[in-house]
Amino acid sequence: MSDDSQPVRLVVLISGSGSNLQAIIDATRSGQIPAQIAAVVSNRPGVKGLERAKQAGIPARVLDHTEFDGREAFDRALMAQIDEFSPDLVVLAGFMRILTPTFANHYAGRMLNIHPSLLPKYQGLNTHQRVLDAGDREHGVTVHFVTAELDGGPPAVQARLAVRPGDDAAALASRVQRQEHRIYPLAIQWFAQGRLRMHNGQSLLDGEPLPASGYLIETEAD
Ligand code: GRF
Repeated sequence: MSDDSQPVRLVVLISGSGSNLQAIIDATRSGQIPAQIAAVVSNRPGVKGLERAKQAGIPARVLDHTEFDGREAFDRALMAQIDEFSPDLVVLAGFMRILTPTFANHYAGRMLNIHPSLLPKYQGLNTHQRVLDAGDREHGVTVHFVTAELDGGPPAVQARLAVRPGDDAAALASRVQRQEHRIYPLAIQWFAQGRLRMHNGQSLLDGEPLPASGYLIETEAD
């Protein structure tokens, strides 16, 4: 809850399946996250995440980026759409768009993203295959504050897991996703409780700077 006991408001941006959105919906319903999802916005029509929002009775909007003349125009329209819902936090949950600096700066300190790698390693796409190609022994996922640098903002929570012999990209993706569904609700919970924030380009938990990896969660062999 915020100071004036108004529930913290989230706007969740998606582009696809929305399994992270589902985990966040479930965690708001169970009371783990003391916040309400004010809206879900997708840049792609017809995706499963929109159906999940509808099922949960959450206002869902589509803003199709292909109908805009360039990145700046799309991001301006997206900001206007998001701000209609007056969010305290914008949650990028599989939102597959590169953001303009104007957009990133507008939500500085109040926008989180989840990225399937141990940031700062493997920014960008195809992280699971890149981990395998490099022969890494560990992999994972990071929730971070969003800054104008792609996948470059300060980590808030990170889960690590071991790469197993015989793993392919699909096997890794599925184990990583299980962790995504744990750590994203946790990071949002902490933000909604006023415990997690970004200050001077650093993530703080309870007022203390977090390590460069963010709050670290070692996962059991699952
Ligand atoms: C996740 O793997 C996330 O790490 C990446 O996009 C995927 C989204 O999956 N950024 P979903 O739409 O939440 O199921």
